[in-house]
Amino acid sequence: MKFFLDTAIVDEVAKMVDTGLVDGVTTNPSLIAKTGAKLEDTIAAMCKLTNGPVSAEVTATDSQGMIEQGISLRKIADNVCIKIPLTMEGLRATHKLSASGHPVNMTLCFSANQALLAAKAGARFISPFIGRLDDLGANGMDLISDIRLMYDNYPALKTEILAASIRSVGHMREAALIGADIATLPTKVMMDMVKHPLTSSGLDAFLADWEATGQNIL
Ligand code: E4P
Repeated sequence: MKFFLDTAIVDEVAKMVDTGLVDGVTTNPSLIAKTGAKLEDTIAAMCKLTNGPVSAEVTATDSQGMIEQGISLRKIADNVCIKIPLTMEGLRATHKLSASGHPVNMTLCFSANQALLAAKAGARFISPFIGRLDDLGANGMDLISDIRLMYDNYPALKTEILAASIRSVGHMREAALIGADIATLPTKVMMDMVKHPLTSSGLDAFLADWEATGQNIL
């Protein structure tokens, strides 16, 4: 399973890349807006920090505008992935951009049928939003299961499932058990994944016992 960091904060990516856990980055207009930084500067900096795909989202709502913005975003760096919302205009743009060799991440996916359309259009990634479905009282993880089953019925479909809107370590565990290809997660969730109270208390005990021996390694 690949991990993308879901952030528009360049420093967060810079701090995490040396873990070897970061396979790419996803941003969206809301995350960019929160930083106050310029989209181009943020994406360019992130593309230097990772060789993996860095998703940058178009804001045009017509297919021609999406295509033009997408091509413009792709000029920032080779590893920019064009993020396009799951509308009919978005599908048109995805079809054209993908056919020309541009990687597209179709976002704001809330149904398996939308994911099927995205795959037919040639999207490289589909981003089903787990947390936002949970927020409405639905089970977002059911959507990941449905898309996994659907895509596995048609091996010719090469679109990768990018589990998005992840809010907790529980989401990560379930998405991995279902077989999502990728998860995009906030830095806090990545940090939380390593934590276990028995790891902390076990390490404290090992270090105290070692200290008592008076020995040193090397
Ligand atoms: C990633 O591609 C999405 O933009 C992101 O995961 C959305 O997360 P949120 O629902 O927590 O805003």
